[in-house]
Amino acid sequence: MSEQPNKQVSAAAQELRDILGLGKSGEQRRAEMLAGIRAELMPKPEYMAMTRMAGRIIGSTLLRLSRGDQAKINAVIARPEAFRYLVRQALQGKTDAHYVELVSGFLPRAWQMAHEFPHLRVTEVDLPDMIAEKRRRFERAKLPLPPNLQMLSTELCAKPLAEILGGEQADAISAEGLLPYFELDRVQHIAACVRQSLKDDGVFIADILTKEIVHMLTLGRSRQAAGIFRRNVGKWLGVVNDRAHAEELFKAAGYAHVETYKLSEVVAPLADVRKPVADLTLLIVARR
Ligand SMILES: C[S@@+](CC[C@H](N)C(=O)[O-])C[C@H]1O[C@@H](n2cnc3c(N)ncnc32)[C@H](O)[C@@H]1O
Repeated sequence: MSEQPNKQVSAAAQELRDILGLGKSGEQRRAEMLAGIRAELMPKPEYMAMTRMAGRIIGSTLLRLSRGDQAKINAVIARPEAFRYLVRQALQGKTDAHYVELVSGFLPRAWQMAHEFPHLRVTEVDLPDMIAEKRRRFERAKLPLPPNLQMLSTELCAKPLAEILGGEQADAISAEGLLPYFELDRVQHIAACVRQSLKDDGVFIADILTKEIVHMLTLGRSRQAAGIFRRNVGKWLGVVNDRAHAEELFKAAGYAHVETYKLSEVVAPLADVRKPVADLTLLIVARR
């Protein structure tokens, strides 16, 4: 009996999400919302190209709800820019390098990296529907795909990453916004699988939540926006106690050296990222 009203509420919520056109799965909605917020904050052509109207509407609504919590708002654009910086650092001085971006969603980073470094081989991986839609969005925006960019449509859980990459190892592999959605034993498993596809001096760059970050998300003016985001995309499961816990987890996955960084530390030298930036994610650079 008591389940009935909840069912009605969740059916209504689902319908509303579908009316908004954000997509039926949490994954699609997450990617669409993030793309909308990023384009609002940094209207570069490639960020704009990755959005559609529904994503921009929900993006600007979430930003309005968060007004006054500027450091948290700035974190949304700071995260992909921090990843780009860490990937660049990892590839510095390497010739004929290969960079792989997992679950790229509507992030244009693989496209950006391929443009910026014509000798770099870049591979991005996401589900077939997402890759097809992303190709359409680049085409619609008349942003040509660079020849050194390979967009792989695949279901990551269906076969080992090594097989997906045809046995080729990478110099750097990144997965932005992925680990927080998995239990920690799964996070360790994912990290270990990625490690097998890295060259001896290869690096895995990822991010994870700490208990302190989850607490921070429940405070301040942006807590309502954070709540809406979470209801649409699902629970945060990959939450570590602290930085030392994150390092332990990756070492247990086999990595030789693990560094963790606060988001604000990484973006401090980046001029085009608005400051202040709240530390809404913990960045991990794990060396094979
Ligand atoms: C994990 S998020 C991160 C998106 C992006 N990195 C960002 O920060 O905006 C969602 C992405 O994961 C992709 N994804 C989810 N499950 C997947 C799977 N089994 N195989 C490949 N991609 C998957 C979704 O299609 C979606 O693009």
